Amino acid sequence: MPMAIALKARCVFLGAPGAGKGTQAKKVSETASLAHISTGDMLRQEVASGSALGETARSFMDGGKLVPDDVIIGMVQARIQLPDAKSAWILDGFPRTLMQAEALDRSLGSSALTHVVYFAVPEDVLIGRLAGRRSCSKCGAIWHVEHQPTKSKGICDHCSGKLVQRSDDSPEAVVERLKVYRSQTSPLLAYYRDRKVLRELDANRAPAVVFTELLKLMQ
Ligand code: AP5
Repeated sequence: MPMAIALKARCVFLGAPGAGKGTQAKKVSETASLAHISTGDMLRQEVASGSALGETARSFMDGGKLVPDDVIIGMVQARIQLPDAKSAWILDGFPRTLMQAEALDRSLGSSALTHVVYFAVPEDVLIGRLAGRRSCSKCGAIWHVEHQPTKSKGICDHCSGKLVQRSDDSPEAVVERLKVYRSQTSPLLAYYRDRKVLRELDANRAPAVVFTELLKLMQ
C-alpha cells in the first residue's frame, strides 16, 4: 500500500488514447486523496445505465469520435461542484478540444489549474497498449494482457470481477481515436504551454517509474 501524501492539485492529465492517464489517475487519487474525474468513465456509466445521455454518447464512442462539446462541458461543470472535488482533483480525458479548454478556464475563474501533465508515448506503443487492455467489469481496474496481467486469466486480482475489452478498443475505432486525438486534442499542448502550466512526462516507461515521476511533477 503506497504512503498517503497531501496534494492540493487541480490538474489535467492530457495524452493520446492508451497513454496511461487512467492507470496513473486511479493510483494518484488513492495515494493523495484527489477526486479522479474521468469523462470516459462517466460516459461509460451513462451508457451502462441506459440513460438518454448514454444513448447519445454510445454512437460517438463506439465509432471513436468525440461526444459533442456541449454534452461534455455541462457534465464536467456539474461534477466539479460536488463536495469531493472542492479543493483537489484530476481531470482525466477532459478537456479534449479548444472549446472545452476555454469553457474550463471560464468556469474555474480564479481557482485556476495548477498543472497540466502531458503523457508522452509513441504511437506504435499506444496501439499495443490499447489492443491488450482489459478492464474489470465490476471495479473498473485497468489491466493489460502482457504489461499488467492478472494472476488468473480474465479475472480481476482486486475483486474477482470478469475482465472485458472496451468496445472502442477495436482496431477500427483505435485508428479513428488516434486521428481525432491528433486533429482535435493535440492543439491543447500549445494552448497550455502558452499558459505556462504544461509539464511533459515520459510515460513510455514502467508504470511504477511513471508514477514516481508524476508525483514529483505534481508536488
Ligand atoms: P476515455 O475513456 O477518456 O479514453 P482515452 O482518452 O481514449 O484514453 P484511454 O482510456 O483509452 O487511455 P488511458 O490514457 O486512460 O490509458 P490506460 O491507463 O487505460 O474516452 C473514451 C471515449 O469517450 C472517447 O473516445 C470519446 O468518445 C468519449 N469522451 C471522453 N472524454 C471526452 C471529452 N472530453 N470530449 C468528448 N468525448 C469524450 O492504459 C491503457 C493500457 O496500457 C492499459 O491496458 C494499461 O494497463 C496499459 N498501461 C498503462 N500504463 C502503462 C505503462 N506505463 N506501461 C505499459 N502499459 C501501460
